[in-house]
Amino acid sequence: MKAAFEKTYGCAPEAAASAPGRVNLIGDHTDYADGFCLPMPLARRTHVAMARSARFRATSLDNGETRDFDPKAPPRRDWTDYVAGPIAELLKRGIEVPPVEVLIRSDVPQGAGVSSSAALEIAVIRASLALTGAVLDDIEIARAGQAAENLYCGLQCGILDQMASSVGREGHALLLDCRTNEARLAAVPESFRFAVIHCGVERRLVDGAYNARRAAVEEAARRLGLRALRDAAPAMLSSLPEGELRARVRHVVGENARVLAAFDALEAADADAFGALMTESHRSLAEDYEVSTEALDRLVETALGEGARGARLTGAGFGGCVVALIAPDEAEDWWRRVGARHPKAWAVSL
Ligand code: GLA
Repeated sequence: MKAAFEKTYGCAPEAAASAPGRVNLIGDHTDYADGFCLPMPLARRTHVAMARSARFRATSLDNGETRDFDPKAPPRRDWTDYVAGPIAELLKRGIEVPPVEVLIRSDVPQGAGVSSSAALEIAVIRASLALTGAVLDDIEIARAGQAAENLYCGLQCGILDQMASSVGREGHALLLDCRTNEARLAAVPESFRFAVIHCGVERRLVDGAYNARRAAVEEAARRLGLRALRDAAPAMLSSLPEGELRARVRHVVGENARVLAAFDALEAADADAFGALMTESHRSLAEDYEVSTEALDRLVETALGEGARGARLTGAGFGGCVVALIAPDEAEDWWRRVGARHPKAWAVSL
C-alpha cells in the first residue's frame, strides 16, 4: 500500500488500517429486530491508507477511479459515499478529520453478501482515527460505520456487518446480541470448515427489498405491542393474520432460536447439529422471508448433495454467497464436485 500510495499521490501515507469482510454462519435478517447472529470474519480484507492534503480525494485501486468528495455535502450515490459517510460520522462525533487523500485496495468481493461495504467503512474509520490520534472503542467504531451506511449510503441495515468487521477475530465465531451489542467469541472447532461459495450471480439493487423487509418486521412488532421482534414468542404468531407478515415473523422468531442453538452446537463441536440448523435457516430465508434466488437454492442443494453437513445463503440474500459446513479433509474434493456442477460459481473462501 505504501508504494502504491506514493505512486498515486506523490507522498508517503501518514496512516493506514484494514478491516475484514465477514461470513454470517447463521442468523440473517435478525439484527434489525434486536436479535442474534453468528458471523465470522473472512481472511479477505480492505486496506486503506491516507495522508493530509488540500482536499478530500479517494482512489480505488480496484476500479482504478480517483474522485474528490466532500463529507459535509449530501451523499452522491457512488462508491465515495462509503468513504465520505464514515468521515462524516467521525466529524459529527467531534473528531476533526482534516482533508485527506485516501487509497483503497480490497480483496473482499462486492455484491457477494460478505460485507465489502462494512469492511471499507471500518477501515476508513480506523485509518482516520490513526491519523488524528482520536480513540473510539470497537463497538463505537461499529456504530459509526452503521450510521454511515444508514444515513449516507441509504441502506437501513442493522449492526451485524460492522460489528463482525470491527469486533470479530479470525478463526472465531462471534455470537452477537444486537440489542445490547454484547459479543461472545468462540473458536471454530478444528473439525469444522466453512466454505463460502459465490453462486455466480451478483446481488444487485436490493436496497428497496431489504428496507421493505425491515419495515415489515417493525410493523409486526408494533402490531404485537413489542419493542422489537426479538421479544416475540412462537405462540404470538397465531395472533397475526395468516400470510406474508406472519411468515416474516416466523422466520425472525425461528432464526433467533436457531442462532442460540447453533452457538451451543459450535461449542460442543457438534457438526451435524450445527449443519442441520444452517439448512433449516436457508429454508426459512427462502420460504418465509423470500430473500433467496434460484441460483442460491440450487447451490445449497448441490452443496448438501455432495456431502456438506449444512448449507445456507449468507447475508442479505438476493444473490451472492452460500456458506456450507464441511469436514476439513473433504474441502478440496467437495468443492471440485460442487464446482463441476456450477460452472459460474467460485470459491470466496475454502
Ligand atoms: C445485510 C445487512 C445486515 C443484515 C444482513 C442480513 O448484510 O447489512 O445488517 O441485516 O444483511 O442478515
